[in-house]
Order: sequence, then C-alpha cells, then structure tokens
Amino acid sequence: MTALTLSTAAAPGLRADAIVIGVAKGAEGPVVAPGAEAVDKAYDGRLAGVLETLGASGAEGEVTKLPAPAGFKAPLVVAVGLGAEPEKDSGFDAEALRRAAGAASRGLAGSQKAAFALPLTDAADAGAVAEGVLLGAYSFDVYKNNGKDTGKDSRAKGKAKNGKAPLAEAALLGGKPRDRAYKAAIERATAVAEELNRARDLINMPPNDLDPEAFAAIAQTAAKEHGIKVQVLDVKALEKGGYGGILGVGAGSAAGPRLVKLSYTSSKAKKHLAFVGKGITYDSGGISLKPAGHNETMKCDMSGAAAVFAAVVAAARLGLEVNVTGWLALAENMPSGSATRPGDVLRMYSGKTVEVLNTDAEGRLVLADALWAASEETPDAIVDVATLTGAMMLALGNRTFGIMANDDAFRTAVHEAAAEVGEPAWPMPLPEHLRKGMDSPTADIANMGERMGGGLVAGLFLREFVGEGIIWAHLDIAGPAFNDGGPFGYTPKGGTGTAVRTLVRLAELAAAGDLG
Ligand code: BES
Ligand code: MN
Ligand code: ZN
Repeated sequence: MTALTLSTAAAPGLRADAIVIGVAKGAEGPVVAPGAEAVDKAYDGRLAGVLETLGASGAEGEVTKLPAPAGFKAPLVVAVGLGAEPEKDSGFDAEALRRAAGAASRGLAGSQKAAFALPLTDAADAGAVAEGVLLGAYSFDVYKNNGKDTGKDSRAKGKAKNGKAPLAEAALLGGKPRDRAYKAAIERATAVAEELNRARDLINMPPNDLDPEAFAAIAQTAAKEHGIKVQVLDVKALEKGGYGGILGVGAGSAAGPRLVKLSYTSSKAKKHLAFVGKGITYDSGGISLKPAGHNETMKCDMSGAAAVFAAVVAAARLGLEVNVTGWLALAENMPSGSATRPGDVLRMYSGKTVEVLNTDAEGRLVLADALWAASEETPDAIVDVATLTGAMMLALGNRTFGIMANDDAFRTAVHEAAAEVGEPAWPMPLPEHLRKGMDSPTADIANMGERMGGGLVAGLFLREFVGEGIIWAHLDIAGPAFNDGGPFGYTPKGGTGTAVRTLVRLAELAAAGDLG
C-alpha cells in the first residue's frame, strides 16, 4: 500500500513526481485553495487564470495536470477540484478533502511519489486527506497478468501492460509531523484504510477462490495476527448447534457454510458491541435461480461480512477501549439436488421455524441465526450489515445505504456516525403493517412478504431474531457495496468497503461512552 508521511518541506524544493493542490469552484471561476500558495506564487499569482485557461472549474473530482513552474524540483502539478468554495471563515468539508485526495491519488497511479498540498485546518483534515489518498490508490489486479509472459498457452501473452502500480509514496504538506493529534490522525487513517482496502480485496475476489471455508481461514489468520480471538463453526458444529438458517442456505453448495466469531476485547472496555455481517460468498439465488443479468456481480454478497471483519481488525489495531464481537455468517447460495427448496421449513438457531418461499431471500436466513447467536451474549447493541435487498437499491440508489432499527435514538446515532465519516446513509422505517405479509400457514414466519417495501420487510424479518430488549440496527448496503460504474472520489470500481468506517466510528463512540 501507499506509504504515507507528514512533511514540513516546502513545495518548490521537494523531490517528487507531482505536487497535488486544491482548486475550488468560486462564483467567478476557479479559486486556488489554501496550501498551494508557493505554487501560485511561482506562477506570479496567476495560477487561477492558468487553470481556467486549461478548462478547470474547481468542480468536485476534476483533475487537471499542468507543468510545474520553473524552479520546482517536481515536474508536475495536479490540481484537483474540491467543489464549491466554503463560506468565509470556514474550511473545506472533510469529505470534500477526502474525495479530492482520492481522485488525485487514483490519477497518479504509475507514479512513485506525490506531495499533497491541500488545505488543512486541523488534524482531522489531515486524517481525511490521508484516508482519501490511501483509499483512492487502491487497485485490484492480482488476477491480471499485466502483459507478463505467462507461458505458451497464455491468452495474455503479448498484451500491453494494462495496469499501473498504485502511487507508492505520499507526503502530506501543511501538517504538523510532531503534533500528537496529527500523528494520531494519520495512524488512525492508515489502520482504517488498510483494513477497508482488505475488505475490498475480499469482495473483489472471485467466488471460485473465496468460498466460506477460504473466507474463514483468512479471518482466522488475520485475527490471530491482531490478538483477536477466533472461533469457526464448521458444518458439523453448525449441525450440532442447530443453526438451521445458515445450514439451509448452504445446503446446495459443495462448499459448506461457516459461522465465524471474532472477539476483540479491551481490559478497559465498558461497552460491548456486536457486528453481524451477511457473508454469501456467491448468491445464485438457489432453486429460485436469478436470471442472467442479475448474477454477474453476486460475489459481492459477502460485503457485509467483509465490512464487519475489517471493522473488528481496525478496532483491534487502534486499541479501542471497547469490546467488539464480529459475526460472519458465511454460506454459498447454490441450486443442486441437496439445496433447500421453496416450500421447505427450516428450524432456526433461535428455535423459530421459517417457511422458505423464495431461496433467493437467503441473506435474512443466515443473519437470523447470527443475530440470535450475537444476542445470547447480551451486548449493549447489535449492528448488522448486509447486501440484503434489491428494493433498497430502488429506494436509495447506488451510493446510499438504508438504516433500520428497533430504537429511534440508536438509528439516529448510527446515521450521525455515518455522516461524520462521510458515508451516505438514510433512515428507513419498519412499518408494523408489513409484518403480516410474512405470516405462514405452516411455520412461524415466511422468508418473504409483500413486494412493496421489500427492504423494510427484510428488516422486519431480522427484528424477530434479535434478543428481547437488545438495541439493534440494520444497514442494508445492497446499493453502495459494489460499484458497477466508473471510479469516483476515493471509490474504485468493484467492491467499495462501504460501512467499514461507520462501524469503526460506532466502536470509537462506544469506547468514549458517547453511544447510548
Ligand atoms: N443479494 C441479494 C440482494 C442484492 C441485489 C444485493 C442486488 C446486491 C445487488 C438478495 O439475496 C436477494 O436476492 N434479495 C431478493 C429478495 C426477494 C427474493 C424477497 C431481492 O431483493 O430481490
Ligand atoms: Mn438472494
Ligand atoms: Zn443475497
């Protein structure tokens, strides 16, 4: 990953491949942001005009490259758009900095070293820029031969190198390398971004290489490295424990399901949070098979589990004074002679029975068992994360996740935490009248209800598997988990790692005694 340092060097004498500066969208054209004074001075104070001539407006995400002025050691200046100029006397929004830094570092792929001279007003800004740089530099190319000679059968042979290495080094200018708050912000950003990028790797891994067993093994290795206790329930243990939901979903696959429990504990903890992630390593729909056009990206259906895994490891790396238990409900949803059929009744871990009307509504089944297992430890709160419904994508689009909860204040707290870290999210209701649509003539509940409000129906289903009196929130990340479009800001194509930063923030708030 990109190596990051705080630097007090002045831009002109800095040995780097590029100097990144900010440009805002002013009322009368582009405005050079603070931090770029030395560059502007070397252009005789005419940098804004030069940028305008080049077509720059300062719009968010815009990247303009220009030759560095005479006397600069670095050959290139990269001006990145920050969006609207802030009101007088207030600085740029942290998320605007994060996105701009991300767009710039992505645009600098293939370069060795860049200096970031973006407007920093405090340590939090430095943290945001650091996160943007590290997240924007992400690339997933372990499956590409990149033109290497791979033998006589290789289809890649003779192809041009098609991937550029991520930016290797980034120096943040304008920060205070000796200031504790700045150092802490950089350390935090590094831990969070590295774990978030690891979640992206897991999401992007093809499902023939990441089945439940492989995911569990990766979690086991990483957890041991960071002093996290791991427990993996395999098929035998799941059978013994009566985890009918997880077993029912995994029944059709040659790769058996797993339930992974990650326990991070701090001796100074006063609170205990449980995070539960949907980990369907591939969702074919099962016997209720998805049609072509709806299954190509279904390797992303373990994004919730990847987010939970990343957040627990990040909490451990940061040494947060809170206990965090992560539950990864892992299964592959496949059709076969041993698969669960529409009409089957599953006996869940909680003891409730569920009539499976649609095997493609599998996420709620694995989550139900994991939520009940998490509830047995009576944590102070449970948050589950899941690519649960297409309905949530229809409601909120591709960049915003929905938040449902059994407690209004907690839903608001989760929403505020998401806003603080720059993750778009929106509160959604759990209307009681939708519950009766899941009444089953045969079992306690069916796994499907009314089509209208499908995301809320799924939320109501999950609520039934949360222990009495336990505060719970459900994040439906089906929209933002996987980016089918082009990259933007610090978000790459493919797995995004959405919800990781919200979960880490919740753990920090709980550690500080600021959550409930
Ligand atoms: N994994 C899907 C939801 C999904 C869809 C995630 C698109 C990401 C992108 C989930 O398991 C599913 O298939 N849900 C069904 C539920 C329905 C059968 C009640 C859906 O939303 O169509
Ligand atoms: Mn499904
Ligand atoms: Zn699914």
